[in-house]
Amino acid sequence: MVLCAVLVLGFVAFLYQSRLIVSCPQEPAEVQIEESEKFTGVERAVIGDDKINYFANKLKERLESIGEGDWPKRNYICEEINSTAPCKSRKPCNRPWESRTPEERVRELLTTPRFQLSDKQLETILKLSESIPEKDLIIASAISGNHFYEMQAMFKNLHETVYPRVKNFHTVLFDLGLSKKQLEISVIVKARKLFVYQDSSIRWSTQFPKAFARALRYGQQTIALVYGDNVPSNSLKQTLDYLNEDVCNMRQFEEMQAGIQMNRHDSLVIEALMNPWARCALEEACICPIKPSAVIKCTGKHLHRCHRFDQSAFNTLMAKLYGAERYKMSVPRNVHPLKIQRGDKNSTYFKEQQVVVAAAAAAAVVVVVVVVVVVVVVVVVIVVVVVVVIVVVLL
Ligand SMILES: *[C@@H]1O[C@H](CO)[C@@H](O)[C@H](O)[C@H]1NC(C)=O
Ligand SMILES: *[C@@H]1O[C@H](CO)[C@@H](O)[C@H](O)[C@H]1NC(C)=O
Repeated sequence: MVLCAVLVLGFVAFLYQSRLIVSCPQEPAEVQIEESEKFTGVERAVIGDDKINYFANKLKERLESIGEGDWPKRNYICEEINSTAPCKSRKPCNRPWESRTPEERVRELLTTPRFQLSDKQLETILKLSESIPEKDLIIASAISGNHFYEMQAMFKNLHETVYPRVKNFHTVLFDLGLSKKQLEISVIVKARKLFVYQDSSIRWSTQFPKAFARALRYGQQTIALVYGDNVPSNSLKQTLDYLNEDVCNMRQFEEMQAGIQMNRHDSLVIEALMNPWARCALEEACICPIKPSAVIKCTGKHLHRCHRFDQSAFNTLMAKLYGAERYKMSVPRNVHPLKIQRGDKNSTYFKEQQVVVAAAAAAAVVVVVVVVVVVVVVVVVIVVVVVVVIVVVLL
């Protein structure tokens, strides 16, 4: 019996492991995902004052509801703007973020034509979502050949740390070829509650449910490094121009990581942030105004020394939406949900999983053989007993 139980477990493990990459249904839940406002797609209705006011109030309430936290905040503008060093000066300077009202910010993001996806672009993007199942939580990442080993280490971390603590979720792995921002919109519409995008260098700690819970409460969460570079040092001016933002205004913002996104299924986040971000990703003038190889390396200490493509656009749009309170959308330092471990690789994890799968498959074969043998033996015994009984009765 014990042997049988072990073999059955092996068989279950086999079924489970074989779905490692595509989808990992798991039960025990530590994250209690609350019902959040339903949003069934990006609405293409005409943007009227009602909608703008609704979003502006939502934005205001949201920012007011976020209390104190231990943030890496650095909203001091530097006089010496030609520098990547952290700002030391606290002298108040030109801070347009404080005079722009939530209503003005939302209006700009929602009504500037070059920030909006056209109906056709949106339709194409939403088509991509057809094959993705609707789940409470969707975790997405993108595969690329040169990060294959890093991705194995990422799956090891997801498998050991995250999957056992969440439920009703699905993992999507994209083949990069499309811009990941378009993919993000296609996924977020299928995430009933929370959508998490992560680069292959992200390693969660067991504290991650706290960060997920914050994203569910406040609409989104991201990560800012303690000493991030300022945004325009690592962004081309053309991108800021496309996004209608002044270089000096952006000087006070340090970079947040676009490689980790925790977004609630939330109309404000989708329409005022994801939508303009996806549109930017479709425009060369915005995402990639000059040859990428010329701006990939961040060396020197001057403005626009390099470009971070989607991350440059993300940081600018985050500032446009949340203004000086942008830092509230980053996870406070005392929560520590993850590490960014570029170069953390595991070249054998998938292989070892295959060994586990092979062992489980062998176990499954043994289970089947044992079951067949047991059934045959039982049947034979029953037949023999019946025959013996009949013979005894008849005689
Ligand atoms: C900014 O720094 C770069 C590199 O150190 C230098 O070449 C450039 O002349 C500086 N620009 C200004 C306006 O100081
Ligand atoms: C890779 O994953 C395997 C299987 O979990 C583990 O035994 C091994 O230590 C990992 N290697 C590295 C370099 O982390």
